[in-house]
Amino acid sequence: MYPDWPQSTADLVPLPNCDGPKLEAFDFQGPQKIKFLDHIGDGAHSRVFKVEILERVYALKIFRFVYDYDWLGPYNYTHPDNLEAMSAFYNYSEPFSAECRAFGRLKEAGYEKLAVPCFGYLLLNEDHERVLMEQFSNLNLNFNGNGDYPGGDDMRARFLGRDGRPPPLRAIVKEFGQADEPLRTKGARTLLQDMIKLQQLGIISLDVAHRQLVDGKLADLSTAITLPHFITTPELNSRLNPEWISAMEYQTFHFCIYDFQSFDEMVEEWNDDHENRKDKISVHAFPGGNYFQVPHNLRRLPSRERVYSFVDPRLWRNSVIADAETSGTKAARGQSSGQKAKKSNPKKGITRRRLCANPPKWYYDCDSTVAAKLKRISFSTSLSWEYEDGLIFPRNKTYKYHGPPINFAELSTKVPDPLHVD
Ligand SMILES: Nc1ncnc2c1ncn2[C@@H]1O[C@H](COP(=O)(O)OP(=O)(O)O)[C@@H](O)[C@H]1O
Ligand SMILES: [Mg+2]
Repeated sequence: MYPDWPQSTADLVPLPNCDGPKLEAFDFQGPQKIKFLDHIGDGAHSRVFKVEILERVYALKIFRFVYDYDWLGPYNYTHPDNLEAMSAFYNYSEPFSAECRAFGRLKEAGYEKLAVPCFGYLLLNEDHERVLMEQFSNLNLNFNGNGDYPGGDDMRARFLGRDGRPPPLRAIVKEFGQADEPLRTKGARTLLQDMIKLQQLGIISLDVAHRQLVDGKLADLSTAITLPHFITTPELNSRLNPEWISAMEYQTFHFCIYDFQSFDEMVEEWNDDHENRKDKISVHAFPGGNYFQVPHNLRRLPSRERVYSFVDPRLWRNSVIADAETSGTKAARGQSSGQKAKKSNPKKGITRRRLCANPPKWYYDCDSTVAAKLKRISFSTSLSWEYEDGLIFPRNKTYKYHGPPINFAELSTKVPDPLHVD
C-alpha cells in the first residue's frame, strides 16, 4: 500500500499505482541530497519545509500517515487490516495519492500553472529522516495522525514494508512561494478562473481557502478528487445499479458546487475581516456571493434553473483529448470533442486544448428541497464506500463503525467524530 523503501531508482515508479494520472519521482540527478532550511507551515495532512536541492530552493510537503477517516473513501465499511481493499482506496483518496493524482493531471495536460508548480514526489531516505528529526527536534516531529490529532496510534507502522520496517516518509516537492499574501480583487478573479479550469481538467474538491494559497495559487491538492475516480466515475464499476449511479452524480455535483461556495465564503470572510473599503474584494462565483441571498421563489422555477455549478468535470476528457491523440494513449480512444485544439507546446511536442473561461454550466435536476440543500454551504459526504471483488461500491452512510480502534484518549481530550452523519 504505502510505497516501500526503494532499493534503486527503478523502484521510484510514478505514483499512485492505479488507473489515472500519476506523479513522477523528483529527479535528484544522482543520490538523494536535501538541505533542510526552515519549517514553513503545517496542515491537517502534512508538515512543510523550505529545502535546498541541487542549489535551488523548494517547498517540501512531508505527508503524515493520517487516519482512515481523513481519506475520502473507506470510512465505515472496510476492515482496516484488509490490505487489498485499503490499497484500492489508498491509491485514489489517501491525501498523498490524491495530491499525486492532481499534480499528475496538471502535468499530463500541460496546465501546471493552474496551481503552484510541482516537481515530483520523493521518499525520504533514512539519513535525511534522521537529519530532519535532529535539526527540528524542537518541533517534536511525528508523522502519525493528522494536524488536529497527531501521534497516537502508530499509523505508519500499520502496513510494514518488505523487510518489516515502517515505510519511508512520502513528500512532494513544490515551488517555494509566499503564503498568507493579502487577497486582492484581481487575484481573486484569477483564482476563480483557475478553479474553473481545474474542474474542466477533472480536478475537483479543491479545499479552497485563503490559507491554501501560495503566490495566489492553490498549493494544497491533498483533498482533490481527480477523475476518473470511484466517487465520480460509474464506468469504473460495471456492477453499479442506476440508483447508486445517481447517488454518485449527486455526490460529484456536491463536491463541485462546494468548491465555488467555498470561494464565495473565503471572499466573504476576507471582506468581514477588512473594514477598509479599498481592501474589499468584489468578485463572487455565485450572484451576490451567496446563493441564499438570491431572491428566488424556488418553487416557481423549472427545476433545471434551480441549482447549478460552473463546470461538469465529467467532461474532462474533452479538454485533454488533443494531448492523447498526439501521443496515441488510451485516452485517445475515449470521448471525442467538437472543440478544436488551439495551443501547441513546442517544447514537449504536445498539442493542448485551450480551456474555456465560461464553459457550459452544470444544471442539476432535482426537486426544490434538494436544490435548497445544495445551495446551503455546508458540506459533508453523503456516501460511504465498500470494496468487493476488486470493485468499489457506494453505500449509504450509517452509524455503524468498523474502523480501527482509535485511542483518542492518548491524543487529546476532544474526540473527533468519525461517525458523524448529516
Ligand atoms: N509551496 C509552498 N511555499 C510556501 N509555503 C507553503 C507551500 N506549500 C505549503 N506551504 C505552507 O504550508 C502550509 C501547509 O501546506 P498544505 O499544502 O496546505 O498542507 P495540508 O495538506 O497538510 O493542509 C500552507 O498553509 C502554507 O502556509
Ligand atoms: Mg492545507
